[in-house]
Order: sequence, then structure tokens, then C-alpha cells
Amino acid sequence: MRFDVLTILPELLQSPLSHSIVKRAVERKIVEIHIHNIRNYSPYKHRQVDDYPYAGKGGMVLMIEPIYQAITHLTSQITYDEIIYTSPDGELFNQKLANELSLKKNILILCGHYKGVDHRVREHLITREISIGDYVLTGGELAAAVMIDCIVRLLPGAINDEMSALSDSFQDNLLAPPVYTRPAEFNGWRVPDILLSGNDKAIEQWKLEQAIERTKKIRPDLFNKL
Ligand code: ADE
Repeated sequence: MRFDVLTILPELLQSPLSHSIVKRAVERKIVEIHIHNIRNYSPYKHRQVDDYPYAGKGGMVLMIEPIYQAITHLTSQITYDEIIYTSPDGELFNQKLANELSLKKNILILCGHYKGVDHRVREHLITREISIGDYVLTGGELAAAVMIDCIVRLLPGAINDEMSALSDSFQDNLLAPPVYTRPAEFNGWRVPDILLSGNDKAIEQWKLEQAIERTKKIRPDLFNKL
């Protein structure tokens, strides 16, 4: 799988995508992640990428031309399955959408910024808009990093334990059951006896009950979908 990301703040993306599972997946050539600075495509003086909005007050808006140049340059070389714009107005990102996107081959993500982007970009140059939640970030870079992180860990070979991604919270609309490690007792706080029992069937049953119980208590909205 390949991601290309268009941003005016490449530094903001580099670190979150340079560690742990994503780093290993890149090293294992399971995924390629290419970050492109929109400024490099600006035809304007001082590599300008944003300007004041027409008939509006307040913040700067990303201009269409540098984005158009960047997207046409990339699409002349690569066929994208999706060209995504990160925005709080988009469809909500969740595990189901992550699963769906993990089956694609090439994804281009355009990171929104501050007061938005010239609306013609949204009308003519992208295939979908995605939000990572009902809150407003200063830009789309962290949203892009969240989506890439979430999708990459689903790719075959990214996680050593194949079953691990499948048993994540949300894969079946259930939160994950609690996990523990050594020591079996700390400060008088004991690991539940069942987990030390060696009775695999009873342990699986306990995990399911815990997952249901936690979902009911913490996320009744998910529980009602079960
Ligand atoms: N840009 C600003 N806020 C965002 C959000 N919640 N999701 C995606 N992109 C964003």
C-alpha cells in the first residue's frame, strides 16, 4: 500500500509516522509513505500557499493553484483509489472505514489547514472528506497521521501477532477486555484468578463477558448496536 500526503507542515507528520509499528511496516516494505510540501508546488512569490478569503473576515485560506499543481503532478504518475481531504466537516473516521481503506492500494491525503481550503478544491479535486472526530484541530496533519497509523496496523504483516489487530476494540463493536502482566500481585492488587487458571475455555468466556460489560458501561451507543 502507498500513501502520499500533501501538507504545508511536513514536520508535523514526520514524527508520528517514524516509530513503532508504522516504522517497521515501512522497513518491511508493507507500506510506503511519501510526504510532500505543498509549498514546493506554489507558482507564487515566496512560495505562497494561502491568502485572505473573499468577502470574509479572519483566517487565511489555502489557495487552489499550489494544490492543483501538486495533485496533477502526483496523479500523472500514480492512480489513486481515493483522494482524501481531512476536515472536521467530513464523514466520521472509524474502525469500519479504516478496514475499508486498508484494502486500497494508493491513497492521497490532502491535509486541511486553519480556516480551510478554497472550496473549488473540495468540489473538483478530491474524492472524499474525512473527519477523525467532532472537534476542531488546527490542521489536518494530526488527522492524517491518525488515519495512516490506524490503517497501517491492519495491513498483513504489520503486526507480528496476526490475531492482534482482529481482536482490537471496535472490530466487533466491543471494547477490548482488560489485560494484565506480571507480577500477579502488586500493592495487594491481584490479577483476576481466572487468568492464572490455565482454563482456556473459561478465560475466553471471561474475556467476552468483560468486553460486553465494559462496552455497556463506557459506550452504551456501541452496546446498542450489538
Ligand atoms: N482538521 C481540523 N479538525 C479536523 C478533524 N476533526 N478531523 C479531520 N481533519 C481536521
